[in-house]
Amino acid sequence: ERQKNDRIYYDINRQAGRYFYDNLVQGRNLAQDYLIKRGLTVKAIKSFGLGYALDGWDYLLNYLIKKGYTKEDIEKSGLIVKSKQKDSYYDRFRKRIMFPIFDVRGNVIAFGGRVLDDALPKYLNSPETKYFNKSEILYGLHIARKNAINGQGILVEGYMDVIALHQQGLKNTVATLGTSLTQGHAVTLKKYFNEIVICFDGDSAGIKATLRSIEILQNVHIDIKVLTLPNNMDPDDFIKKKGKDAFEKKIKEALNFIDYKIYIAQQKYSSKSLEDQIKLGKAVANILKDIKSPIEQETYLKNIEEKIGISKDAIIAEMYGRKVSMN
Ligand code: CTP
Ligand code: MN
Ligand code: MN
Ligand code: MN
Ligand code: MN
Repeated sequence: ERQKNDRIYYDINRQAGRYFYDNLVQGRNLAQDYLIKRGLTVKAIKSFGLGYALDGWDYLLNYLIKKGYTKEDIEKSGLIVKSKQKDSYYDRFRKRIMFPIFDVRGNVIAFGGRVLDDALPKYLNSPETKYFNKSEILYGLHIARKNAINGQGILVEGYMDVIALHQQGLKNTVATLGTSLTQGHAVTLKKYFNEIVICFDGDSAGIKATLRSIEILQNVHIDIKVLTLPNNMDPDDFIKKKGKDAFEKKIKEALNFIDYKIYIAQQKYSSKSLEDQIKLGKAVANILKDIKSPIEQETYLKNIEEKIGISKDAIIAEMYGRKVSMN
C-alpha cells in the first residue's frame, strides 16, 4: 500500500512535468518568450524539464483526471488545492513557468513556479510532503552529484542560478531553494563534494546567508570557499553579463572562509573612526580565535597588522584576554 502511494505520488508529478513541458514547447507562447529573453538554451530547458502552467483553473486537474488519477491522489501530490467554500479543486500553479524539483535519484517530487512579470509571490512552490522537504532538497543535485569538478561543488540560491551555470558547463552547481542552508543540506553536500564554493546573491540577504552557511558547513568538515559578487548581482546575472571565463576567474579567486569573514568585517567597519577601528579589531580577534589549527592561526596573525593596521600582540591579547562577544 505504502509502495503504491509512493508510486502514485511520483507518477502524478512526472506526468504533470510532462504536461507543463508540452505546454511550453508546443507553439510559441509567453513562457517561451520569457525564457528566451532570459537567455536559456533549448538544451537547458529540456534537461531541467522546464514547463508552463497555462492561465486557467483546471487544465492540469482535467489532464490528470483523464489519465485516471483521483482528485484525492492529485491533491496529495500538491498540484491541486481544495477550495475552502465548495467541494471542488483547482490547479495550484497557473500562468507560471514551471521548474520541476528532482530528488537525488531524478524523481520529480515537487515544482517551483515563477510568474512571468513582477507579480507576487515571484516563486510558488509545491507544499512540503513526506517526499518534498525544502530543508533537505538541493536543486540540481541529481545532475551535480556526478559532476563534481576536482571534488568541488558550487552552492547558489535559486533555480535560475543553477540553470545558468549548468548551461555554461558548470554542472557541479546546486541550490538551496531560498531557504537557508540546513545541517541536512550540509551532510548531503559532504557526501558528494570535498569543497563547496558558496556563491549567494551579492545583496545583504546573500551575505547573511553566507555567514550562516559557513558555520553549518564547518560542522561537516568540508572545505569552504566564498565567491563574492558585485552588489545586487546573482550568479545568473553575473555569468550572463560577464561570461563563463569571468565566472571561472571568480571561482579561482574565491576566498577561504576566514578571509571572507575578515573582508566582511572590514566592509562593516570601514570608516577610519576610532570606534570602527576598535570594532574591527575585536571582530577580527573573534574570527581568528575560532581557527583550530595553530599553524593556520599563526599565519593569519603574522599578516594581520598589514591587513587591518592593528598589531598582532593586541589581537592576541584580545583573543585570550577576555571573552569576546560573537558579533
Ligand atoms: N524563492 C522562493 N519563493 C520566493 C522567492 C524566492 O521560493 N517568493 C526561492 C527560489 O528558489 C529562488 C530563490 O529563492 O530561486 C532565490 O530567490 P531570488 O534571488 O529572489 O530569486 P532568483 O532565483 O534570482 O530568481 P529570478 O532570477 O527569476 O528573479
Ligand atoms: Mn536572493
Ligand atoms: Mn536571479
Ligand atoms: Mn537571485
Ligand atoms: Mn567565535
